[in-house]
Amino acid sequence: MPEIHSLLLEKRVFKPDAAFAKQANWGPKKVAELRRLAARSPERFWEKMAREHVSWFKPWRRALDWKPPFAKWFVGAHTNVSYNCLDRHVTGENAWRRNKAAIVWEGEPGDSRVLTYGDLHREVQKFANVLEAKGIKKGDRVAIYMPMIPEIAIAMLACTRIGAPHTVVFGGFSADSLRDRILDVGAKLVVTADGGFRRGKPIALKAAVDEALTGAPGVASVVVVRRTGEPVSMREGRDAWWHDLMAEAPASCPPAKLDSEHPLFVLYTSGSTGKPKGILHTTGGYLTHITATTHAIFDLKEDDTFWCTADVGWVTGHSYVVYGPLANGATTVMYEGAPNEPGPDRFWSIIAKYGVSVFYTAPTAIRTFIRWGDEHPNRHDLSSLRLLGSVGEPINPEAWIWYHRVIGKKRCPIVDTWWQTETGGILVSPLPGAVAAKPGSCTLPFPGIEPEVLDAEGRAVKAPQGGFLTLRKPWPGMLRGIWGDPARYKEQYWSRYEKVYFTGDGAHFDKDGYLWVMGRVDDVMNVSGHRIGTMEVESALVSHPAVAEAAVVGRPDDLTGTAIVAFVTPKTGAHANANLREALRGHVAREIGALARPAEVRFTDALPKTRSGKIMRRLLRDVASGRETVQDTTTLEDLSVLARLHAPDEA
Ligand code: WTA
Repeated sequence: MPEIHSLLLEKRVFKPDAAFAKQANWGPKKVAELRRLAARSPERFWEKMAREHVSWFKPWRRALDWKPPFAKWFVGAHTNVSYNCLDRHVTGENAWRRNKAAIVWEGEPGDSRVLTYGDLHREVQKFANVLEAKGIKKGDRVAIYMPMIPEIAIAMLACTRIGAPHTVVFGGFSADSLRDRILDVGAKLVVTADGGFRRGKPIALKAAVDEALTGAPGVASVVVVRRTGEPVSMREGRDAWWHDLMAEAPASCPPAKLDSEHPLFVLYTSGSTGKPKGILHTTGGYLTHITATTHAIFDLKEDDTFWCTADVGWVTGHSYVVYGPLANGATTVMYEGAPNEPGPDRFWSIIAKYGVSVFYTAPTAIRTFIRWGDEHPNRHDLSSLRLLGSVGEPINPEAWIWYHRVIGKKRCPIVDTWWQTETGGILVSPLPGAVAAKPGSCTLPFPGIEPEVLDAEGRAVKAPQGGFLTLRKPWPGMLRGIWGDPARYKEQYWSRYEKVYFTGDGAHFDKDGYLWVMGRVDDVMNVSGHRIGTMEVESALVSHPAVAEAAVVGRPDDLTGTAIVAFVTPKTGAHANANLREALRGHVAREIGALARPAEVRFTDALPKTRSGKIMRRLLRDVASGRETVQDTTTLEDLSVLARLHAPDEA
């Protein structure tokens, strides 16, 4: 695997500060004890987490039922996610949290709202009653397509209260992408808004829902939050305003006592085929995993203000904007808009305004901030910060050092957290009071997690050799399958090696047992921390009438991590010119969403293929990134194709 080797020779080590370690939820002694317990039995360790961090209506009979690749955690137990996020903070010994801020929300135009645990508890019960009044029952699916406003969390929690699995679709996805997901999951109801604010402008959402629903007759009801005040069309009998329904809704709705394995949500993510996969997560194991990791890795204390900048439409938003912080009774910050609206210092002004103490963002954002200049953070009081986090892609050591110096003022530990939509919660990360950080490494596995780096034959490689990142043992937050497609679940994750979960990432351990993740080794690109399948973009391109064939690859980009490059063979008669290039970029944005818009479209009269007809992606990657083609090209069907690809593109 020549492509998987580490270019990083980072030597710096940042030990936990003694004062931080002393106050940490998990200090060095506790971590050592928990690691010993987990090494003896991961199940005993997770049972301890489940007892300490989650409230159950009924205990489990067995911690784990493992019939590879299908896991059941806390078998026979009953619980409820909204109960854990709300009720237990407004009753009993923690009843005082009723008046603690649960969600501190800032709209892009500068408006703000604070919902206490008492407020959120009331709103969620009311919306749960709205859902029931609309005929939503336990097991029915609800699609959520909303901006970053508190109602998105209310809608999700209300679903969990009655046992209706939700599927949140990121507001940046197109009407077509929304329709695909609604159809695949079989949603009966959609919660949306007229729109949201982004870069100073209202962005319409309801119009996309209307378009999506033209091909989705199974959706009987749409609930619309008024956010921007822009005009929308409301279809009689199907569409209703959130505020009208909430005004009528009864205030009380008891939480359903759900089986630990009851489906909690389905979240779509890109894979190596054209169709996104509906990743299924269930109740008790997921809740245990994200509640414990939030407590231990973000070291949340009663008086912390936690801000994870992810959109709730991604797994990071599910686990660490909504469920993890709320299950811990913490204050979670939500921001609606862009980081540079009205100016490039918006994030730092939010940190100063609310006294954010724990801040969690993505390397692509950090690299952008570096480019915008130190003067923007330096203008604001960031002294409330005490811990920083990173997620979504490998963080390059220079970005890590900048984050540490300019944002953390060399005081704040950094947790570089590796995980995936499929893993539900963080699997590899420093424990900030106990594990020394090395910039660029996500460091050591969480207790109970045992990643292995394997070669193509399934043998563990020796450090520091690279290979495929895998997991052999189940963990409570793991995906339970792909919605409606158990065969694809096996084939996607469990077929490369027998009884081993394949992450799709390349990685290596160093001599200290630190994990260095190098990025995807499958046909998935990581663009600004968002997963996009090459095949998805290809099928969007070939759906354009002027395109005969298309191949899409990623090339390294300083800012976004990966940039999308499309090689397109136009149909005979189509004019391969700048107009078509722009039309194709726009077409992909309309088909999938703006996040998938190719950075570059290159026209070619043929694509390089092997004799068996497979597109040679490695070669295209080399061409796209301007690397000399080192690959053996003897299997190329037509060598002249290679020459043409390298030739300057005049069109
Ligand atoms: C990448 C986001 C290196 C990785 C939570 C993974 C990372 C994919 C890190 C999952 C990290 C995420 N270091 N790479 N700290 N965090 N990744 O499903 O390639 O959107 O497979 O989940 O992001 O992306 P997803």
